[in-house]
Parts: sequence; structure tokens; C-alpha cells
Amino acid sequence: MIIDTDTASDDAVALAMALNHPGVDVVAITTVVGNCSLEDTTRNALYTADLCGSGVPVYAGADRPLLVKAGLATYFHGMDGLGDHGYPVPSRSAEDTDGVSALITHIRNSPGSTLVTLGPLTNVALALAQAPELVDLVGRCVVMGGTANTVGNVTPAAEFNLWFDPHAARLVFASGLPIEMVGWEICRGEAGLDATERAALRALDTPLAHFFLDCNSTALEASRKQSGTVRLQLPDPTAMAAAIDKDGVVTHSSSHYVEVEAESPLTRGMSVVDSLDVTGNPANVEVVNAIDTARFKEMIFDAARG
Ligand code: BDR
Ligand code: CA
Repeated sequence: MIIDTDTASDDAVALAMALNHPGVDVVAITTVVGNCSLEDTTRNALYTADLCGSGVPVYAGADRPLLVKAGLATYFHGMDGLGDHGYPVPSRSAEDTDGVSALITHIRNSPGSTLVTLGPLTNVALALAQAPELVDLVGRCVVMGGTANTVGNVTPAAEFNLWFDPHAARLVFASGLPIEMVGWEICRGEAGLDATERAALRALDTPLAHFFLDCNSTALEASRKQSGTVRLQLPDPTAMAAAIDKDGVVTHSSSHYVEVEAESPLTRGMSVVDSLDVTGNPANVEVVNAIDTARFKEMIFDAARG
């Protein structure tokens, strides 16, 4: 597995799920600007790897979107992306190689691997522009991004990762990569951790259980303000769960033609899903429609046990 991430609070949980899973071999983490600056997302990825006792190489990629200005989500995840708890400096730095070159090299070296994207798609778009053959080398590309039912979390029409760099998202969705899209709606409702579940997670009393909850404290409050939910929504972990255990986690998916809007100010970053095949265009994305939320939560608890 190769993970591309704008590491903030929910990304960190997703990283730990992969790094602590006995059946998953994470060969590289590449970071991208998104939730916070590239410097912050890279530091957060390295810190999370430290907590998992992992020496996985971390490479810093794009520090800005392809064409638009960066619109960070520090209002949601905290100024440092991890809820501003003053976590220590990681034990090591990112590798010298840049994230885009690293993506190309690792995908070439591990044909058939799973690429999981947890942030804006800038690194992936830049890698495909340099090495279009990657499309045929990636086994699965699981994308946390978009919203199949058009309830957006950053505008009414768009989910953050696709909105942040709509031109990159448009390129990647049109590229031919074998995309499995886990949209924002998948983390809502029953998939969120309620107060009882959060208390049970806290009661594990492991460093990772505390970290999962603490680093998401700002995000929990921000989503309460946004939608009134009292549950902790974890979008990136839902995508990671689908990537790690598709058969156990994904209960319904369907393949459709999906295109991303890049230009319209109103619908920038919208994932337009042709659910009824009205365009007649061939399906390019497997859209995840539902997950087994109990299995998903079990995976979070397993990761927290370390
Ligand atoms: C996505 O945007 C970010 O805030 C989260 O990390 C997640 O990747 C959800 O829209
Ligand atoms: Ca993310």
C-alpha cells in the first residue's frame, strides 16, 4: 500500500489503521498540502508513524494546488492539523526525494499495489502527468473524496479534498486509474463514533486511543457546529477500512461515470455521478454506497490497541 495524505486528525487515524494492521505493508507515505500546510501535514505524518513505531519513508509532495489558491482547513482540524495539543517534534524528517517522484518510483516498483488517497489529488495528478503508465500499474486506487449524493462539507456541492484542488481531481478521475470512491457521506450518521463509543475507545487507555480522540477534538467541535452532529466523523478512516478489508467493510457499491467540476464557482470540486447512466459514458469509478459501520469501528479499535 502507498498512502497519499494531507495528514490532519482523521488522516492520522487512517494512517495508524494501515501501519498497525498485520496484513498491510505500507511502503511509502506521500504528503500534500490540504488540511494544513505541507510542512504541517508532513510533520503530522511523521509523528503518527512514530506513535506506531513505524519507520515507513515519508515524502513531502506538492505545497500548493495546480491552479487555485490553497484554502486550508485549519478551522476544522486546528492550526497544526492535530487539534493544537502541542505534540512533540517527530524523531525524524521526511526523505530527500519529493513526494511526486516518490509516488512514481514506488508505484513502478510495486505494480498491482493499492494507492489510498486521503487528501487533495495534486500529487497524483502531477505523477500521472509525468508518468501516464502509472494508470496501468496501480492495482486499486481508493479515494477518500467527493460526495455521491451532493451534500458537500465545504460548499453545498463539494467535499473538501476534491474542492481543494478541483483541476487535479478532474484529471485523476478522468485518467483511467481504477478508482474506488469513498465519498464524505459514508462517514456520516451511524458511521460516526458516538459518546459511548468514544468513552469505550478512551477506556482502552493506550497511547493511540488517547491520540485518536485528542487529535480529533477540534474536528469534533467543528462538525458539531456545522451539522449539529454529536458523533465523531472520520472520513479518511472509512476509506482506509474499505481499502484494507473491502469484503468485510463495503456492503454496497456500484460503478458509474463520474466527472469532477473544476471551473464553476458554484459547483467547484463537485463529483458528478451519473447514477442512471444518462450520459452513456463508460463507468470510470466504483462508488462505495454503504459500509458495515460495526466492522469499520472494530478496525479503529484494533488500530488503537497498537
Ligand atoms: C476530507 O477532508 C479533510 O478535512 C479530511 O482529512 C478528509 O480527507 C473530508 O472531506
Ligand atoms: Ca485528509
